[in-house]
Amino acid sequence: MTLQQTTAPASASAPGSQIILTGDRPTGPLHLGHFVGSLRDRVTYQHQYRQFVMLADSQALTDNMDDLSKVHRNVLEVALDYLAVGIDPAKTTIFIQSQIPELTELTFYYLNLVTVARLERNPTVKAEIVLRGFERDIPAGFLTYPASQAADITAFKAGVVPVGEDQIPMIEQCNEIVRRFNRIVGRDILVEAKAFVPEVGRLPGIDGKAKMSKSLGNTINLGASADEIRAAVKNVYTDPLHLKVSDPGHIEGNVAFSYLDAFDTDKEGLAEMKAHYQRGGLGDSIVKKRLEGILQDLLAPIRARREEFAKDPAQVMKMLQEGTLKAREVAAATTDEVKKALGLSYF
Ligand code: TRP
Repeated sequence: MTLQQTTAPASASAPGSQIILTGDRPTGPLHLGHFVGSLRDRVTYQHQYRQFVMLADSQALTDNMDDLSKVHRNVLEVALDYLAVGIDPAKTTIFIQSQIPELTELTFYYLNLVTVARLERNPTVKAEIVLRGFERDIPAGFLTYPASQAADITAFKAGVVPVGEDQIPMIEQCNEIVRRFNRIVGRDILVEAKAFVPEVGRLPGIDGKAKMSKSLGNTINLGASADEIRAAVKNVYTDPLHLKVSDPGHIEGNVAFSYLDAFDTDKEGLAEMKAHYQRGGLGDSIVKKRLEGILQDLLAPIRARREEFAKDPAQVMKMLQEGTLKAREVAAATTDEVKKALGLSYF
Protein backbone atom coordinates (compact mmCIF):
# COMPACT_ATOMS: atom_id res chain seq x y z
CA MET A 1 0.00 0.00 0.00
CA THR A 2 1.32 3.44 -0.79
CA LEU A 3 0.79 6.29 1.58
CA GLN A 4 0.41 9.75 0.24
CA GLN A 5 -0.32 12.78 2.34
CA THR A 6 -3.19 15.08 1.51
CA THR A 7 -2.97 16.99 -1.73
CA ALA A 8 -5.46 19.63 -0.55
CA PRO A 9 -4.03 23.15 -0.38
CA ALA A 10 -1.87 23.64 2.66
CA SER A 11 -3.40 26.95 3.70
CA ALA A 12 -6.35 26.92 6.06
CA SER A 13 -8.45 28.08 3.13
CA ALA A 14 -11.77 27.16 4.70
CA PRO A 15 -11.46 28.72 8.14
CA GLY A 16 -13.60 28.00 11.15
CA SER A 17 -16.24 25.33 11.05
CA GLN A 18 -14.74 23.56 8.04
CA ILE A 19 -11.50 22.72 9.80
CA ILE A 20 -11.01 19.99 12.39
CA LEU A 21 -8.02 19.49 14.65
CA THR A 22 -7.66 16.57 17.02
CA GLY A 23 -4.84 14.61 18.46
CA ASP A 24 -3.61 11.96 20.81
CA ARG A 25 -0.73 11.76 23.21
CA PRO A 26 1.41 8.91 21.91
CA THR A 27 1.86 7.08 25.18
CA GLY A 28 0.53 3.64 24.27
CA PRO A 29 -1.33 1.68 21.64
CA LEU A 30 -4.90 2.80 20.91
CA HIS A 31 -7.82 0.61 21.96
CA LEU A 32 -11.53 0.05 21.44
CA GLY A 33 -12.32 3.05 23.67
CA HIS A 34 -10.46 5.29 21.21
CA PHE A 35 -12.18 3.55 18.32
CA VAL A 36 -15.66 4.32 19.68
CA GLY A 37 -14.79 7.71 21.13
CA SER A 38 -12.83 9.27 18.28
CA LEU A 39 -11.22 7.13 15.57
CA ARG A 40 -14.48 6.01 13.96
CA ASP A 41 -15.65 9.61 13.68
CA ARG A 42 -12.36 10.78 12.21
CA VAL A 43 -12.76 8.32 9.36
CA THR A 44 -16.15 9.92 8.62
CA TYR A 45 -15.04 13.53 9.18
CA GLN A 46 -12.17 13.26 6.73
CA HIS A 47 -14.72 13.23 3.89
CA GLN A 48 -16.56 16.29 5.22
CA TYR A 49 -13.87 18.55 6.68
CA ARG A 50 -10.31 19.64 6.24
CA GLN A 51 -8.96 17.42 9.00
CA PHE A 52 -5.68 17.64 10.91
CA VAL A 53 -4.72 14.84 13.28
CA MET A 54 -1.77 15.44 15.56
CA LEU A 55 0.55 13.10 17.39
CA ALA A 56 0.93 15.20 20.54
CA ASP A 57 4.42 14.08 21.49
CA SER A 58 5.43 17.42 23.07
CA GLN A 59 2.32 17.39 25.19
CA ALA A 60 3.07 13.79 26.19
CA LEU A 61 6.37 14.98 27.68
CA THR A 62 4.51 17.10 30.25
CA ASP A 63 4.05 13.98 32.36
CA ASN A 64 6.50 11.55 30.81
CA MET A 65 9.96 13.06 31.25
CA ASP A 66 10.85 9.91 33.19
CA ASP A 67 9.97 7.66 30.26
CA LEU A 68 11.04 9.38 27.04
CA SER A 69 11.41 6.19 25.05
CA LYS A 70 7.75 5.42 25.65
CA VAL A 71 6.73 8.60 23.85
CA HIS A 72 9.25 8.14 21.04
CA ARG A 73 8.24 4.52 20.43
CA ASN A 74 4.53 5.19 20.43
CA VAL A 75 4.57 7.82 17.69
CA LEU A 76 4.89 5.04 15.12
CA GLU A 77 2.50 2.75 17.00
CA VAL A 78 -0.28 5.33 17.11
CA ALA A 79 0.32 6.26 13.47
CA LEU A 80 -0.13 2.56 12.62
CA ASP A 81 -3.38 2.53 14.59
CA TYR A 82 -4.61 5.56 12.62
CA LEU A 83 -3.83 3.93 9.29
CA ALA A 84 -5.26 0.59 10.40
CA VAL A 85 -8.70 2.03 11.16
CA GLY A 86 -8.81 3.90 7.87
CA ILE A 87 -7.65 7.41 8.60
CA ASP A 88 -6.36 8.17 5.13
CA PRO A 89 -3.34 10.44 4.74
CA ALA A 90 -4.67 11.47 1.33
CA LYS A 91 -7.64 13.02 3.11
CA THR A 92 -6.35 13.80 6.60
CA THR A 93 -3.14 15.64 7.40
CA ILE A 94 -1.40 13.55 10.05
CA PHE A 95 1.55 15.28 11.73
CA ILE A 96 3.93 15.30 14.69
CA GLN A 97 3.51 18.16 17.17
CA SER A 98 7.16 18.56 18.22
CA GLN A 99 8.28 19.07 14.64
CA ILE A 100 6.32 22.29 14.32
CA PRO A 101 8.22 24.86 16.38
CA GLU A 102 5.51 27.45 15.68
CA LEU A 103 3.22 25.53 18.05
CA THR A 104 5.72 26.00 20.85
CA GLU A 105 6.13 29.63 19.89
CA LEU A 106 2.38 30.32 20.03
CA THR A 107 2.20 28.56 23.39
CA PHE A 108 4.74 30.99 24.79
CA TYR A 109 2.66 34.00 23.77
CA TYR A 110 -0.61 32.47 24.96
CA LEU A 111 0.86 31.87 28.41
CA ASN A 112 0.50 35.63 28.92
CA LEU A 113 -3.22 35.39 28.25
CA VAL A 114 -3.96 32.95 31.10
CA THR A 115 -3.39 33.27 34.80
CA VAL A 116 -1.88 30.59 37.02
CA ALA A 117 -5.09 30.69 39.09
CA ARG A 118 -7.20 30.03 35.99
CA LEU A 119 -4.99 27.11 35.00
CA GLU A 120 -5.26 25.68 38.51
CA ARG A 121 -9.06 25.89 38.25
CA ASN A 122 -9.24 24.03 34.93
CA PRO A 123 -11.26 20.93 35.91
CA THR A 124 -9.45 18.63 33.48
CA VAL A 125 -6.03 19.69 34.71
CA LYS A 126 -7.21 19.48 38.31
CA ALA A 127 -8.47 15.92 37.89
CA GLU A 128 -5.34 14.85 36.05
CA ILE A 129 -3.09 16.30 38.75
CA VAL A 130 -4.85 14.10 41.31
CA LEU A 131 -4.77 11.09 38.99
CA ARG A 132 -1.03 11.44 38.42
CA GLY A 133 -0.30 12.01 42.10
CA PHE A 134 1.70 15.20 41.45
CA GLU A 135 0.43 16.82 44.67
CA ARG A 136 2.49 20.04 44.97
CA ASP A 137 5.18 18.97 42.51
CA ILE A 138 3.36 19.79 39.30
CA PRO A 139 5.62 20.34 36.32
CA ALA A 140 4.98 23.88 35.03
CA GLY A 141 4.64 22.40 31.56
CA PHE A 142 1.84 20.19 32.79
CA LEU A 143 -0.07 22.97 34.53
CA THR A 144 0.16 25.11 31.43
CA TYR A 145 -0.64 22.52 28.80
CA PRO A 146 -4.07 24.11 28.12
CA ALA A 147 -2.14 27.02 26.58
CA SER A 148 -0.27 24.56 24.38
CA GLN A 149 -3.53 22.90 23.41
CA ALA A 150 -4.92 26.33 22.50
CA ALA A 151 -1.87 26.81 20.27
CA ASP A 152 -2.56 23.47 18.53
CA ILE A 153 -6.18 24.38 17.85
CA THR A 154 -5.74 28.01 16.84
CA ALA A 155 -2.67 27.44 14.66
CA PHE A 156 -4.95 25.59 12.24
CA LYS A 157 -7.90 27.98 12.76
CA ALA A 158 -9.91 24.89 13.64
CA GLY A 159 -13.57 25.57 14.29
CA VAL A 160 -14.30 22.04 15.40
CA VAL A 161 -12.45 19.94 17.94
CA PRO A 162 -13.84 16.46 18.52
CA VAL A 163 -13.01 15.47 22.08
CA GLY A 164 -14.21 13.39 24.97
CA GLU A 165 -16.42 15.07 27.53
CA ASP A 166 -13.50 15.43 29.95
CA GLN A 167 -11.75 17.74 27.47
CA ILE A 168 -14.54 20.33 27.22
CA PRO A 169 -12.86 22.66 29.76
CA MET A 170 -9.83 22.67 27.46
CA ILE A 171 -11.87 24.06 24.60
CA GLU A 172 -13.45 26.64 26.91
CA GLN A 173 -10.05 27.79 28.05
CA CYS A 174 -8.82 27.87 24.45
CA ASN A 175 -11.74 30.11 23.50
CA GLU A 176 -10.98 32.44 26.40
CA ILE A 177 -7.47 32.83 25.03
CA VAL A 178 -8.86 33.44 21.53
CA ARG A 179 -11.25 36.15 22.76
CA ARG A 180 -8.60 37.84 24.83
CA PHE A 181 -6.11 37.81 22.01
CA ASN A 182 -8.57 39.15 19.45
CA ARG A 183 -9.69 41.89 21.86
CA ILE A 184 -6.12 42.97 22.60
CA VAL A 185 -5.09 43.16 18.95
CA GLY A 186 -8.46 44.59 17.90
CA ARG A 187 -9.02 42.08 15.10
CA ASP A 188 -10.47 38.58 14.77
CA ILE A 189 -7.30 36.79 13.89
CA LEU A 190 -7.86 33.67 15.94
CA VAL A 191 -10.95 31.47 15.56
CA GLU A 192 -13.08 30.11 18.39
CA ALA A 193 -13.59 26.35 18.37
CA LYS A 194 -16.58 24.17 19.14
CA ALA A 195 -16.16 20.88 20.98
CA PHE A 196 -17.79 17.92 19.24
CA VAL A 197 -18.52 15.29 21.86
CA PRO A 198 -19.49 11.90 20.45
CA GLU A 199 -23.06 10.84 21.22
CA VAL A 200 -22.14 7.32 22.18
CA GLY A 201 -21.13 7.16 25.80
CA ARG A 202 -17.68 6.22 26.89
CA LEU A 203 -16.73 2.56 26.61
CA PRO A 204 -16.11 0.89 30.00
CA GLY A 205 -13.02 -1.21 30.68
CA ILE A 206 -13.23 -4.99 30.50
CA ASP A 207 -13.06 -4.98 34.32
CA GLY A 208 -16.24 -2.91 34.70
CA LYS A 209 -14.49 0.37 35.51
CA ALA A 210 -16.18 3.36 33.88
CA LYS A 211 -13.31 4.05 31.48
CA MET A 212 -11.24 1.87 29.21
CA SER A 213 -7.72 3.12 29.75
CA LYS A 214 -4.21 1.83 29.27
CA SER A 215 -3.21 3.04 32.71
CA LEU A 216 -5.95 0.91 34.25
CA GLY A 217 -4.86 -2.13 32.20
CA ASN A 218 -8.43 -2.90 31.15
CA THR A 219 -8.23 -2.38 27.40
CA ILE A 220 -8.68 -4.34 24.22
CA ASN A 221 -6.11 -2.88 21.86
CA LEU A 222 -6.81 -2.33 18.16
CA GLY A 223 -3.84 -4.52 17.31
CA ALA A 224 -4.88 -7.32 19.68
CA SER A 225 -4.32 -10.87 18.39
CA ALA A 226 -7.24 -13.29 18.07
CA ASP A 227 -6.02 -15.02 21.25
CA GLU A 228 -5.81 -11.73 23.16
CA ILE A 229 -9.35 -10.86 22.11
CA ARG A 230 -10.59 -14.29 23.21
CA ALA A 231 -8.86 -13.95 26.59
CA ALA A 232 -10.15 -10.40 27.10
CA VAL A 233 -13.75 -11.39 26.35
CA LYS A 234 -13.44 -14.29 28.77
CA ASN A 235 -12.50 -11.77 31.47
CA VAL A 236 -15.19 -9.23 30.62
CA TYR A 237 -17.09 -8.17 33.72
CA THR A 238 -20.74 -9.22 33.60
CA ASP A 239 -23.29 -9.53 36.41
CA PRO A 240 -21.79 -10.82 39.66
CA LEU A 241 -25.29 -11.73 40.88
CA HIS A 242 -25.96 -13.91 37.86
CA LEU A 243 -24.68 -17.11 39.43
CA LYS A 244 -26.81 -19.76 37.78
CA VAL A 245 -27.94 -19.80 34.16
CA SER A 246 -31.55 -19.87 35.34
CA ASP A 247 -31.10 -16.70 37.43
CA PRO A 248 -32.37 -13.43 35.98
CA GLY A 249 -29.38 -11.29 34.93
CA HIS A 250 -28.71 -7.56 34.94
CA ILE A 251 -27.89 -5.57 31.83
CA GLU A 252 -26.92 -2.33 33.57
CA GLY A 253 -23.23 -2.21 34.40
CA ASN A 254 -22.77 -5.45 32.48
CA VAL A 255 -19.78 -4.79 30.25
CA ALA A 256 -20.59 -7.60 27.81
CA PHE A 257 -23.84 -5.82 26.99
CA SER A 258 -22.20 -2.37 26.93
CA TYR A 259 -19.85 -3.69 24.24
CA LEU A 260 -22.70 -5.37 22.35
CA ASP A 261 -24.56 -2.04 22.45
CA ALA A 262 -21.51 -0.38 20.91
CA PHE A 263 -20.65 -2.95 18.24
CA ASP A 264 -23.57 -5.29 17.51
CA THR A 265 -25.35 -4.13 14.37
CA ASP A 266 -28.18 -6.66 14.77
CA LYS A 267 -30.16 -4.54 17.22
CA GLU A 268 -33.21 -6.81 17.12
CA GLY A 269 -31.23 -9.92 17.90
CA LEU A 270 -29.50 -8.04 20.68
CA ALA A 271 -32.81 -6.83 22.18
CA GLU A 272 -34.01 -10.43 22.23
CA MET A 273 -30.84 -11.60 23.89
CA LYS A 274 -31.13 -8.88 26.53
CA ALA A 275 -34.74 -9.83 27.30
CA HIS A 276 -33.76 -13.49 27.61
CA TYR A 277 -30.86 -12.62 29.91
CA GLN A 278 -33.07 -10.51 32.15
CA ARG A 279 -35.73 -13.21 32.28
CA GLY A 280 -33.20 -15.85 33.24
CA GLY A 281 -32.12 -18.97 31.41
CA LEU A 282 -29.30 -17.45 29.40
CA GLY A 283 -25.73 -18.09 30.44
CA ASP A 284 -22.89 -15.57 30.24
CA SER A 285 -21.00 -17.91 27.95
CA ILE A 286 -23.63 -17.51 25.20
CA VAL A 287 -23.51 -13.71 25.50
CA LYS A 288 -19.74 -13.74 25.42
CA LYS A 289 -19.69 -16.02 22.41
CA ARG A 290 -21.75 -13.49 20.48
CA LEU A 291 -19.51 -10.68 21.71
CA GLU A 292 -16.33 -12.51 20.81
CA GLY A 293 -17.54 -13.20 17.28
CA ILE A 294 -18.39 -9.54 16.77
CA LEU A 295 -15.07 -8.26 18.13
CA GLN A 296 -13.06 -10.81 16.13
CA ASP A 297 -14.87 -9.70 12.95
CA LEU A 298 -14.37 -6.03 13.78
CA LEU A 299 -10.70 -6.25 14.66
CA ALA A 300 -9.43 -8.85 12.14
CA PRO A 301 -9.30 -6.43 9.17
CA ILE A 302 -7.88 -3.64 11.37
CA ARG A 303 -5.14 -5.97 12.61
CA ALA A 304 -4.38 -7.14 9.06
CA ARG A 305 -4.02 -3.56 7.81
CA ARG A 306 -1.90 -2.68 10.82
CA GLU A 307 0.46 -5.59 10.16
CA GLU A 308 0.69 -4.64 6.49
CA PHE A 309 1.71 -1.04 7.29
CA ALA A 310 4.02 -2.18 10.08
CA LYS A 311 6.13 -4.04 7.50
CA ASP A 312 7.35 -0.71 6.15
CA PRO A 313 7.89 1.72 9.03
CA ALA A 314 10.06 3.95 6.83
CA GLN A 315 7.09 4.54 4.56
CA VAL A 316 4.90 5.44 7.54
CA MET A 317 7.53 7.87 8.84
CA LYS A 318 7.79 9.43 5.39
CA MET A 319 4.02 9.92 5.36
CA LEU A 320 4.28 11.62 8.77
CA GLN A 321 7.06 13.84 7.51
CA GLU A 322 5.01 14.95 4.50
CA GLY A 323 2.00 15.65 6.73
CA THR A 324 4.15 17.58 9.15
CA LEU A 325 5.52 19.76 6.33
CA LYS A 326 1.98 20.56 5.17
CA ALA A 327 0.76 21.26 8.70
CA ARG A 328 3.75 23.43 9.42
CA GLU A 329 2.95 25.72 6.49
CA VAL A 330 -0.48 26.37 7.98
CA ALA A 331 0.80 26.85 11.52
CA ALA A 332 3.58 29.16 10.30
CA ALA A 333 1.11 31.36 8.42
CA THR A 334 -1.03 31.79 11.55
CA THR A 335 2.02 32.41 13.72
CA ASP A 336 3.12 35.09 11.31
CA GLU A 337 -0.25 36.83 11.62
CA VAL A 338 -0.13 36.53 15.42
CA LYS A 339 3.36 37.99 15.67
CA LYS A 340 2.52 40.87 13.36
CA ALA A 341 -0.59 41.62 15.39
CA LEU A 342 1.52 41.63 18.54
CA GLY A 343 3.99 44.03 16.97
CA LEU A 344 6.69 41.38 16.91
CA SER A 345 7.78 41.97 13.36
CA TYR A 346 10.70 44.11 12.37
CA PHE A 347 12.35 43.19 9.10
N1 TRP B 1 -5.02 16.26 25.10
C1 TRP B 1 -5.20 15.32 24.04
C2 TRP B 1 -5.02 13.92 24.63
O1 TRP B 1 -4.77 13.79 25.80
C3 TRP B 1 -4.23 15.51 22.89
C4 TRP B 1 -4.26 16.88 22.30
C5 TRP B 1 -3.21 17.77 22.26
C6 TRP B 1 -5.35 17.51 21.65
N2 TRP B 1 -3.58 18.90 21.65
C7 TRP B 1 -4.88 18.79 21.26
C8 TRP B 1 -6.67 17.14 21.37
C9 TRP B 1 -5.70 19.70 20.63
C10 TRP B 1 -7.48 18.05 20.73
C11 TRP B 1 -7.02 19.32 20.37
O2 TRP B 1 -5.07 12.94 23.92
